[in-house]
Amino acid sequence: MPATIVIGAQWGDEGKGRVADWLAAQSDVVARYAGGDNAGHTVYVGKTVFKLHLIPSGILHEHVVCVLGGGTVINPVNLLREIDEMRALGIDVTPERLIISTRAHIISPAHIALDKASEQARGADKIGTTLRGIGPAYMDKTGRSGLRMGQMLEVESFADALYAQIETANAKLARDGCETIDPQKSAEDYIDAANRLRPYLRDTTQYLNKRLREGARVLCEGAQGTMLDIDHGDYPFVTSSSPTSGGALTGLGFGPMYVDRVVGVTKCFSTRVGSGPLPTELSGDLGARLRGTGENFWDEFGTTTGRPRRCGWLDTVMLRYAVQVNGFSEMVLTKLDVLSGFDELQIATSYELDGQVIDFMPVTTAEQSRVKPIYVKLPGWKEDISTVRQWSDLPEAARAYIDQIAALCETPINTVSVGPERDQLVHRGQ
Ligand code: IMP
Repeated sequence: MPATIVIGAQWGDEGKGRVADWLAAQSDVVARYAGGDNAGHTVYVGKTVFKLHLIPSGILHEHVVCVLGGGTVINPVNLLREIDEMRALGIDVTPERLIISTRAHIISPAHIALDKASEQARGADKIGTTLRGIGPAYMDKTGRSGLRMGQMLEVESFADALYAQIETANAKLARDGCETIDPQKSAEDYIDAANRLRPYLRDTTQYLNKRLREGARVLCEGAQGTMLDIDHGDYPFVTSSSPTSGGALTGLGFGPMYVDRVVGVTKCFSTRVGSGPLPTELSGDLGARLRGTGENFWDEFGTTTGRPRRCGWLDTVMLRYAVQVNGFSEMVLTKLDVLSGFDELQIATSYELDGQVIDFMPVTTAEQSRVKPIYVKLPGWKEDISTVRQWSDLPEAARAYIDQIAALCETPINTVSVGPERDQLVHRGQ
């Protein structure tokens, strides 16, 4: 197993953190390839809840080296806060265990201010971003005016470049009637951060290629999800990076010949946070039941923003699209325990669009908003399955539900989760 990619199959929040944590145990290196601290990966180990935003989940395994690849965008101040939080929980985060790409782009306070200003200007049409400055940081990257982490190695020129970037942003913010930011204060904060982060910076492309050539097992940890991909998601209600499998290669800088496993993670129902179409969305009691009350950490409220997630039945039209875009070799189904107690479950198998039945995801968000899902109904199960550890102990209806999804997506499902704890993963054949 040279390289495995773990990807969110839906709109993010599928439980990739816990799946990456499981696969990290069998890996030597775990590398994040896209996105920034907009992600929220929650991993439960015993009574401790680890909430990771940027650091790969692999950090929880002592033998693993973690990498933040060139495709990521990094807020250095927030990264240092996360490093300190992990250390306070007893996790060893040192430059030997966390390597940051000199090619990764920097999120500055200017990007955060511009993200807020852009959302305000959109009004009712807002994307519902996490307000972490992700979009503006990637805009500067593709506009060829971004700052890269490697520039932190030259403190003086870095400070000048950051100062200039903030002054350019301030001119725009002032033009739009928004509050500007203090370039001097930002430069000071970022120089402090640069001084602490310098030992972690490295050419991660060279590092990863060397490790892969030597036979190391590399886990590429995706963030966000397929439908949030800048190219393949429901644009414009997307993030600004490439969370899909192609993004792992560009974000880390190695070739496809190393990849032999692509794991898609999907919840057994649908959720979305932020704006944009969610064809199977359920309002009322059913949606509320899937969401949970918020009393548990694992209820459907955003890890990064705390926003309630929109919930609905599982959508296999969307999942089949995710299988195409990513080339999943298998899928992991999470949160199966949440479906206990429903009399009947529904899975969307096709859509009706303007009077026609279609079995694919239409391209435009206008069409996606008009589709009416066509459902297959399956019997539910009443048993609490959170203590199940053997596939054969899952209720027959639960196994039928899993098998139906695998058949509809033409992709094997051999692992399901029945709760948030590490040992609440059930593997087929065990
Ligand atoms: P941004 O990534 O902050 O620019 O947000 C763009 C869209 O992606 C918004 O709809 C966010 O709610 C969504 N998004 C970004 N990161 C995540 C995530 O980790 N989970 C779920 N949704 C996300």
